[in-house]
Formats: sequence, C-alpha cells, structure tokens
Amino acid sequence: MNIIDCINKKKNSEEMSNEEISYVVQKYTLGEIPDYQFAAWLMAVYFNGMSTREITQLTYEMAQSGERFDLSTINGITVDKHSTGGVGDKTSLVVCPIIASLGLNVIKISGKALDYCGGTIDKLKSIKEMKVTIPSAAVIDQIKECGISIISQSESLVPADKKIYELRDLTATVNSIPLIASSIMSKKIATGADIIILDVKVGSGAFMKTIDDAVLLAQTMVSIGEGLGKKTIAVVSNMNTPLGKNIGNILEIGEVIETLKGNGPSDLVELCSLFGAIIAFINKRAISIEEGKLLIKEKIQKGEVLEKFNEFIKRQGGNLDLLQHDLELLKTSRRVKIYSNEEGYINKIDSFKIGNASMLLAGRRNLKESQINYSTGILLNKKEGDFVNKGELILELVTDDTESEEFREAYQLAHEATVIEKNRKVTDELIKAIVIKEKVFFNLKDFNNLESYLY
Ligand code: URA
Repeated sequence: MNIIDCINKKKNSEEMSNEEISYVVQKYTLGEIPDYQFAAWLMAVYFNGMSTREITQLTYEMAQSGERFDLSTINGITVDKHSTGGVGDKTSLVVCPIIASLGLNVIKISGKALDYCGGTIDKLKSIKEMKVTIPSAAVIDQIKECGISIISQSESLVPADKKIYELRDLTATVNSIPLIASSIMSKKIATGADIIILDVKVGSGAFMKTIDDAVLLAQTMVSIGEGLGKKTIAVVSNMNTPLGKNIGNILEIGEVIETLKGNGPSDLVELCSLFGAIIAFINKRAISIEEGKLLIKEKIQKGEVLEKFNEFIKRQGGNLDLLQHDLELLKTSRRVKIYSNEEGYINKIDSFKIGNASMLLAGRRNLKESQINYSTGILLNKKEGDFVNKGELILELVTDDTESEEFREAYQLAHEATVIEKNRKVTDELIKAIVIKEKVFFNLKDFNNLESYLY
C-alpha cells in the first residue's frame, strides 16, 4: 500500500478500501506520510468526496488514534450533545442539565469559539474558578456524581483530527462535508456516549449557509453515528438570526440561568425543549414528543433543571456566588444603546454581523486567549419580526471600551445588522429539519410521526 495510489484513487473518484483509509490516517498521524502528500489527498477528497462507507471508516480510524473514554462503569445511558456553532447559541448549556434531570448522563467535549461563533468552553470560562480541563478518570467520577461533564478537547483525544484539521486550515480544505462530518464525529465516537444529538446550524451566522448543505452534513453525521453503533439524531436549526437575546460569554450564562428559571426567550426554549423531548421519548419517559416537551417544562418549573446546572458548575469548580455577583454587576455595566430611527417591523437581525460585533467587543480577533474579555457582548431588546417605534431601543453593546477601532467597527456592524421595513416579512422558522436514520423531516407537521422512527 502506498500514499500515491491512495491519492490517485480519490483523484479519479474511486472508492478506497477500509485498509487504505486506515493506512492514510495512521501513517499521517505517525508522521510517516508528509504534509504535502496528505494535503494532495485532502484536496482530492475536497473535490471528489467520499462514500458513506469511506467517511465512516475515516471517522473510526481518527477516533482510534488517541485516548478514548471508558464509560462502562457509569450506570445508565450517556448522551453527547453537539452544535456546529452559531451566534448566541447556548443550547448545550440548557440541554445538558435537562438531560441529566431526566436521569441520563451527559459527556461533552467542547470546542472553543471559532471565528464569529461563540464556543461552550468560552462561556463556561466566564464563570470564575470553573475548570474546563480535567483528567479522564475525574470526568467519569464527576458524571457518576452529578450526571454531567463538559470539558475542552485535550491533546490526547483524537490526535489524528487535530493534526488533519491544522493541515486543512492551511490548505483551504476545511469546508468539505466528508471532512467536517468525520472530524466532528470522531470526537463523539471517542467519548463513547450511547446517544449523539446534533444541532446543525444553517444561515448567515453558521458554517453551513444553505439548507441543502446543512441537511447533507446532518445526514452524513447521522449515517456515521448509526454506522458505528450509536443512536444519532440531528436537528437542523436556523442561524440567520441570533438565538435568544444575549450574545457574549457571561451574558449567555445569564440567559441560560433565566431559561432554567422558566424565563427563557421563546426560540431558545423551543429548541432546547425539542432536544429534551427527543431524549425523554427515546428513554421512554414520554410517549410522544409533545408529552416530552411538557415533561421538560414541568421539570424546569419545579427547579430540577436549574439544580442540575448548579450542581454541575459547582462540581467542576465554578464559583456560583461569584457568578451571581458578576451577573448583578452586569446590570449596571456600561452599555452603548442603538435606537430605531424609524417605525416598522424588524425584518432582519443578521447573526453574521452580530456575531462579528460581539467577537470584536470581546477582543477575540486581536488578543491572546488569556486577554479575552468574557463580560462583553450584545443584548437584543427586539427580535426578528417585532414591531419597533421610532426612538425605541433595539439593542445594546455591553463594553467598557468605547474608544478603540474594534468598538467603532462593532458599533457599525451592530447598526447594519437590523433591517426595518413597513411591512412584516414572514420570519424564518426555527426548526428547519430533523434527520433520523435515513429519513429527513422538513416540516413541523411531519414531526408528529417522529415517534415511529426513533426506536
Ligand atoms: N468542527 C470540527 O470539529 N471539525 C470541523 O472540521 C469543523 C468544525
């Protein structure tokens, strides 16, 4: 076997054998295939794609390349939740305690912010004393005690993905569905959870810009998961506009807590309760998705989900008193307000612009990670579809720094992000599709039949 034959196969759109895929992944990870040859192979994959079998084998090989979690001593079912990333996307921090409140376990290896999308790890790091790197044995102990662990990716987990991703970044091959799907799923397979739930974002503030690409990515990841013996379900959700009203690390933690107290924004609540209901249904805690949603609502109202969230934060070192104090301080923090200069309907709040503005306020474009400001962000006073009067508040930029070039750029972007018009346009639906096994549900009324596909 040699790499030139493997490059030729993909160059000529031929299928590689499982042995050939194992060979390229293993040899590249060990440094026995040079970057220039692996880059040629990546580019051939970029242009000619891979079959489902090839992508599944690629995922499996990457997952095998490093440490894997042994969840065998944990009682009950373990779930992993992943989002492809978006603006204001704090879904995981609501869904993980929902799942734990249903009596299941959650393991989640999370990424940092990528570009204008926030990352769960950065949000957690805005909580003082919170640890995001924990040895594997302690992760297992924590899951046994409180049902949840969310940590950042370590060097030893899926080293093949780390090495391949770095080369993809340098060779313009990131944006390939087989490579994205295998990269994401290799980490899910290495964590070993029984059920994988995926939130594939689509729209201006997501990596997938079109519904066709998002559905294809969702289908590819679901096929990989099912092919490797995991129950895998993907929801494709709208990211043309930010999720919820708070964007920025600690601001989003504040919104998570409000949501767990029953005061969440409707879009965030809708998405999180769908994920919770799917899990309740799979776990036979509800006989339909609708009943599952009611169960989640009840658990939130009783405070059980907030209790799980607090338990998880405390168990992972986070200081809840200081968090409370920081959230109080935010109420009086400096804000720059943007008012409407006309009357009409807000037909657009563009998440790409809002995401970039938030990234600039935090200093994420220019500063080292240690200097990032976790207390900045954007608060939306209005959502897409709302009516606004002339002079009414639309949004606020939360920042102490109003002098820098970054602030001026953020202000401009936030200003341009909203479009106000006389007539109300139909707003995008939040849930675009659900992918289960080989089935794609495109509209809400078909979801009523979801139950028959989940087992
Ligand atoms: N996230 C990943 O983990 N991998 C990709 O390739 C893209 C997004």
